[in-house]
Amino acid sequence: MNDLGVGVLGTGWVSGEHIRAFKANPHTEVRAILSRDKARAAAQAEEHKLASCRAYDHLEDLLDDPAVRIVSICTPHHLHVPQGIAAAKAGKHLLLEKPVALDLAGLRALQAAVGAARVKTLVSFVLRWNPLFETIRALLADAIVGQLFYAEVDYLHGIGPWYRQYSWNVKKEMSGSSLLTAGCHAVDGLRWFVPKRAVEVFAYSNFSARNPLQYEYEPNSVTLVKFEDGTLGKVASSIECVMPYVFNIVLLGDQGTIRNNQVFSKRWVGQRGWATIPTILPDSGDVTHHPFGDEVNHFVDCILNDRESHASLEDAAKTHEICFASEISAREKRPVSLPL
Ligand SMILES: NC(=O)c1ccc[n+]([C@@H]2O[C@H](COP(=O)([O-])OP(=O)(O)OC[C@H]3O[C@@H](n4cnc5c(N)ncnc54)[C@H](OP(=O)(O)O)[C@@H]3O)[C@@H](O)[C@H]2O)c1
Repeated sequence: MNDLGVGVLGTGWVSGEHIRAFKANPHTEVRAILSRDKARAAAQAEEHKLASCRAYDHLEDLLDDPAVRIVSICTPHHLHVPQGIAAAKAGKHLLLEKPVALDLAGLRALQAAVGAARVKTLVSFVLRWNPLFETIRALLADAIVGQLFYAEVDYLHGIGPWYRQYSWNVKKEMSGSSLLTAGCHAVDGLRWFVPKRAVEVFAYSNFSARNPLQYEYEPNSVTLVKFEDGTLGKVASSIECVMPYVFNIVLLGDQGTIRNNQVFSKRWVGQRGWATIPTILPDSGDVTHHPFGDEVNHFVDCILNDRESHASLEDAAKTHEICFASEISAREKRPVSLPL
């Protein structure tokens, strides 16, 4: 039974993926779309053959619609806090695209609104549902590489005019930083593989010599993270690199090593070289490759069974704090302690 109505904010690239995912779930139906232009919302509904979907051009009207119980926020980053707070106050469950906020004050305000409304949240760190991520988590749970002491996760993906979001992504006030706009997937991956508390961050960021994509903020950064047990983490993020999208994972443990889909373990007696796991890797820039279906199914399950997601706003806030700390560290040239 499609008893959970969904309202989707925005009609861009990722909004189409959210709509497809909600359409495929047996408990949800997309009943509202918000656009700055009502005709664009109607066209999006038609394109996805959404029979009982209303088009809105004012958020308040969509939030007043009792048919909407979940709001999916697929707009540019700077709108996530005000739209998220309004939707939480209206009692809607929230699927929030990353980054959820561009600064600590916005993050805390959103957390307060969600806490007061007691609605369910899921932040779209969609790679947590990527098959390689799931395989690595299983290998770590089985201690195949033993205890980790170093972890490296990098997001290297040129975001230029070939992406629709580029027009606003170059702007500081709409996108924040290299980590916030996209590299946060790598920060979240680091936290997902090293489930310890991050206690300190140190970072550098830069422009390339000519800044060919005209970013208003440094599109490249490298961030070091110290975890409470001494494990070291490193996240490089570049959104102006000139190469196909690379998502890099290196996990060093005292019994072996994981390099993306390659594994070497002392526990596998007689292993003489890397074992390669043929699976789906995270590094595709094509959003249709991302497992939004599994993410949405997980969220709906959390709502129906009244439980918090592992990717709730409370958890995702810790990923965002590392991103904010990285920005402060690079600007002030000093290590930054966590929590902020
Ligand atoms: N989790 C992931 O892997 C993933 C992947 C891609 C994107 N995302 C996130 O999803 C969000 C949307 O990204 P996108 O790639 O879908 O961007 P996009 O294609 O540019 O779509 C954004 C939509 O937001 C609406 N919008 C409202 N105010 C706007 C404004 N001032 N400027 C531009 N658009 C505005 C627009 O719809 P109307 O014109 O109809 O109002 C637009 O179509 C971002 O936060 C991004 O980080 C996440």
